[in-house]
Amino acid sequence: MSLIIEASDLSFQEHANLNAMRFLNEVIERYPDAVSFASGRPSEINTQPKKWFQYIEQFSHYLAKTQNKSHQEIVNLLGQYGDTRGIINPLIAKQLYLDEGITLEREDILVTNGAQEGMVICLDTLFSPAHDVLLVTDPAYIGITGAARIKGIDVVYVECDSEGPIITALALSIKNIATSGKRARAIYTIPDFSNPCGRTMSLERRKELLAFCYAYGLFVLEDSPYRLFRYTHQPQPTLLALDEKAVVIYIGTFAKTLCPAVRIGYLICRTRVKRSEQFMPLIDDMTRVKSFISVNTGNIAQAIVGGFLLENNCSLKQTIQGINKHYQEKRDRLLLSLAHFFAEQYPTISWNVPDGGFFLNLKLPFDLTMQDVEHCAAEFGVIVVPTAIFSDSGCYNNVLRLSFSYVESDMIEEGVRRLSCFIADSRERMKSGIDK
Ligand SMILES: Cc1ncc(COP(=O)(O)O)c(C=O)c1O
Repeated sequence: MSLIIEASDLSFQEHANLNAMRFLNEVIERYPDAVSFASGRPSEINTQPKKWFQYIEQFSHYLAKTQNKSHQEIVNLLGQYGDTRGIINPLIAKQLYLDEGITLEREDILVTNGAQEGMVICLDTLFSPAHDVLLVTDPAYIGITGAARIKGIDVVYVECDSEGPIITALALSIKNIATSGKRARAIYTIPDFSNPCGRTMSLERRKELLAFCYAYGLFVLEDSPYRLFRYTHQPQPTLLALDEKAVVIYIGTFAKTLCPAVRIGYLICRTRVKRSEQFMPLIDDMTRVKSFISVNTGNIAQAIVGGFLLENNCSLKQTIQGINKHYQEKRDRLLLSLAHFFAEQYPTISWNVPDGGFFLNLKLPFDLTMQDVEHCAAEFGVIVVPTAIFSDSGCYNNVLRLSFSYVESDMIEEGVRRLSCFIADSRERMKSGIDK
């Protein structure tokens, strides 16, 4: 007979939000005929397998030249285990210099298996679950809150307004955490076109947040996968660029700029650790932690990203601009459709206009559960995501996240029409007292 164990004996404990990542990744397959506003996947207009092989070649030549090695030596190197820090660090440093004006040493960068591993490394390096608490903006990307929960790290959501985390709310959270005998260790935020809201942090709030973190010895985990996908307005500087005291740890990824399948991301950290009267880079400790999580990031995947960066002379701004037209057109179609189906008929429904990124939020006059969303997909043929899965404050129970990055352009209007039918049906049922 096979071994049977009690669920309560597992270190992995059930939490509603822990199903959310799989829901987001799998829901499209379950309802293939539905119009999906669920997925934050990048559009596939940029998926060109032939190019992936070309990128590997391009990067191999670059490496052979810069390391004075033969082609065979480089092929051997790519096929082997590799440097835990990564092999494309100088190219990433150059891209951040050209696109963001940030000057970095290659030693400040650790290449990771996607942003997701970057988050896990931050948690494993900085947090002791018994003492340390993770602050996150409310709502927050489930990649970090789910990983924290699996590790037994407490998560506290900080109230936000349209400019970013409210500093007085942050101060109150820190006080409450200290009263409970624990320590707030870091705040996680997506300052540009956040997931799930599509909000951008104002410059003023960025500065206030940093000043607060300097005063309280808090780290800032800045996650920025959508930053280059900008449709209107001038960019704000990253928190990393504004940071004068090395409190910001920047979590980067190529999942949206190249493709998610390469699973290449990176961490940037300039903090120092005092150890036996010596000041050592925190990223060295993160590198050691990573070596026991994934040994190193796959060299072949790094070579694809390396070639992609080389082909674009290490600046992605220009490349992304072409793709941005495509995303902006989808965003605008979605906004037009929302106005068409809701503005007059449902004045109590509102939505935000994101300046970039892949998401916006739709606020309804009633709450929705995961079951409602399943019902909406099965019966009305449109998939949406409750923003509440990214929160535990109860403030987002009546909000839906609509993603416009992956839905087909000419299905957007039809998707919103179907959503309006679902909303009309839900309201009718509520009015007549039928359980939704
Ligand atoms: C805010 C945010 N961070 C990180 C990621 C995931 O990045 P990666 O695929 O590099 O792990 C996503 C993906 O949707 C995201 O929305």
